[in-house]
Amino acid sequence: MEVKAKIAPSMLSSDFANLASETQRMLNSGADWLHMDIMVLHFVPNLTIGAPVIESLRKHTTAYLDCHLMVTNPVDYVEPLAKAGASGFTFHVETSKDNWQELIQRIKSLGMRPGVALKPGTPIGDVYPLVEAEAPVEMVLVMTVEPGFGGQKFMPEMMDKVRILRKKYPSLDIEVDGGLGPSTIEIAASAGANCIVAGSSVFGAPEPTEVISLLRNSVQKAQQKC
Ligand code: DX5
Ligand code: ZN
Repeated sequence: MEVKAKIAPSMLSSDFANLASETQRMLNSGADWLHMDIMVLHFVPNLTIGAPVIESLRKHTTAYLDCHLMVTNPVDYVEPLAKAGASGFTFHVETSKDNWQELIQRIKSLGMRPGVALKPGTPIGDVYPLVEAEAPVEMVLVMTVEPGFGGQKFMPEMMDKVRILRKKYPSLDIEVDGGLGPSTIEIAASAGANCIVAGSSVFGAPEPTEVISLLRNSVQKAQQKC
């Protein structure tokens, strides 16, 4: 299987007042990507960051900024985020039933990598057309908690979605987000997830380096078994 492990600390669990140094701390600890949760009080009941913060952060790092858009109107964010320096742009399928083709094309044309996310209650079949499109998404994010907040409990029943996706699309980037850490990584990795978002388990650890390397090793070990 040709998918690389990507460990993406969720900056939602960081000290937002020290975002630049927190991102550097995560990169020094072995992070591949930085997961940026964009929430604006509709779609999820929380408010975090937007393009201005991505733009400021971009001045401090060349790292891959994996943006997860929990907004009802993702199309309005494509241009501002591209200008700000976002790397990945993952929108929710629930918000984009009618315009995902246009959305993917705009994301790509502005130099970002398109991904699609789905909430726990959304059937996996809803993302197939987006993966199989002429201009496809390059990552599927399977939410393993209800989006909105860090520190929630991992939902193991979501692993059926990951297994189905991995079987159908062996080389697709499959990301899991919510409740991932040392106690849940094995089930996610063996189901076939290769991009691992982890907020509280990494930032809450005395040694983030150890958690990040444990997450990476689990993904790599699970792949060797395939
Ligand atoms: C939740 C966000 C997640 C969150 C994960 O809606 O999408 O990225 O920060 O945090 P943990 O790992 O603490 O569940
Ligand atoms: Zn997220």
